[in-house]
Amino acid sequence: MTRFDPSGPLRGSLRPPSDKSISHRAALIAAMGEGGTMIEGYLDAADTRSTLAAVEALGARVEGGDDSLSSQLRVHGVGLRGAESADIDVGNAGTLLRLLPGWLAGQEGEDWVLDGDESIRRRPVDRIAAPLRQMGARLKCREDRLPPLRIEGEPLCGLTYEMPIASAQVKSCLLFAGLLAEGETRVVEPAPSRDHTERMLAAAGAAIESVDVGDAVGPETSPGRVVTVQPAERLEPEPITVPADISSAAFFIVAALLVPGSEVVLEEVGVNPTRTGLLAILARMGAAVEVEDERGVGGEPVASLRVRSGPLCATEVGGAEIPLAIDELPLVALAACFAEGTTVVRDAEELRRKESDRIETVTAALRALGGEVEPTPDGMVIEGSGALRGGAIESYGDHRIAMLGAVAGLASREGVEVHGMEAAAVSYPGFEADLRSLLGG
Ligand code: S3P
Repeated sequence: MTRFDPSGPLRGSLRPPSDKSISHRAALIAAMGEGGTMIEGYLDAADTRSTLAAVEALGARVEGGDDSLSSQLRVHGVGLRGAESADIDVGNAGTLLRLLPGWLAGQEGEDWVLDGDESIRRRPVDRIAAPLRQMGARLKCREDRLPPLRIEGEPLCGLTYEMPIASAQVKSCLLFAGLLAEGETRVVEPAPSRDHTERMLAAAGAAIESVDVGDAVGPETSPGRVVTVQPAERLEPEPITVPADISSAAFFIVAALLVPGSEVVLEEVGVNPTRTGLLAILARMGAAVEVEDERGVGGEPVASLRVRSGPLCATEVGGAEIPLAIDELPLVALAACFAEGTTVVRDAEELRRKESDRIETVTAALRALGGEVEPTPDGMVIEGSGALRGGAIESYGDHRIAMLGAVAGLASREGVEVHGMEAAAVSYPGFEADLRSLLGG
């Protein structure tokens, strides 16, 4: 159990840890290359260590990827069609579980089994298995839906796939499969989701194109984005620099907004527009977050985020904004407890399929602290009261719920005890130390 007491203001600056999504993709795409690819600032966390171990199991060589993970790695790839048969432990990493099969499925004559921890065994893989099978892949999973996932490499053919939900994981999986398929592969997203895979594949020489086909999108309106990839003989990845993760920065953004007198600067944060939904939502709530010194680093926009505490008002969140803020919605719910008015989050049923059922776990956590939260099938309704009492919460092994509890503690009246704080190491092993440094400790 770890206790987070009401605190004085957060002050100072820090660079949050590197981006988890970009790190997973960097290791996988570097492994698909043939030479050595430099990765600068690879995230040192449990999830991304699973990805390094996976690419090593497939035959890639990782320099600098030992116990004390270096901030500079060099991954010597096996080539697009060179992955060796292996059993792969994805740990807690849903992104690895969904992305890797796309690359493996088209490699004839080899086979793989992907499995992971207790939480991963509850994460659906039918969302990738169904379209991959349409491409010709041979896959088996438990109850036709859950890991372990067995893949036998087969020749694939291109596909046009209309995704029922906007998922960057499903999209990325199919784009990887498309590299090894015969003919073109098109993925139609109901709304744009994070596009790191597209950027990195284009930089590695793949023929990939994205076209926006409508703005305000939801299930009943026109599609949001069509991404097309052509088959490739080989990839030549560029050196990759990983920015800081806006999803990790988000905990300090919300902490600084809620704790009176705070002012923090979060440096080198990735501000790819497919990831900054939280900033737009907080701006509507009246938050003072300034984006400073924006520039491009290694194909991704980065900036410093200056955050000052201040009063918040309620907002409504739904539709195309959901995929742009999917991992930050728990923090939106926390901020909404401190806002004036009723905040509604809708169209976010996907939250039920994350590391925990985040509609249930966020509701349970915030209610345990005195928040007024009603779960709905696809979101939450939060009655803001301007404050939170405090109490004890369970992380349910979900890193983002653990860190949410810590932030809630600082801003609460009585403090918060978090059971299962160690889950934070999945994406942010240094979270507590970084939090202390902003509190002047
Ligand atoms: C991720 C995509 C999102 C997100 C997850 C990371 C990625 O999942 O929730 O934490 O790196 O592609 P979905 O694509 O399933 O929404």
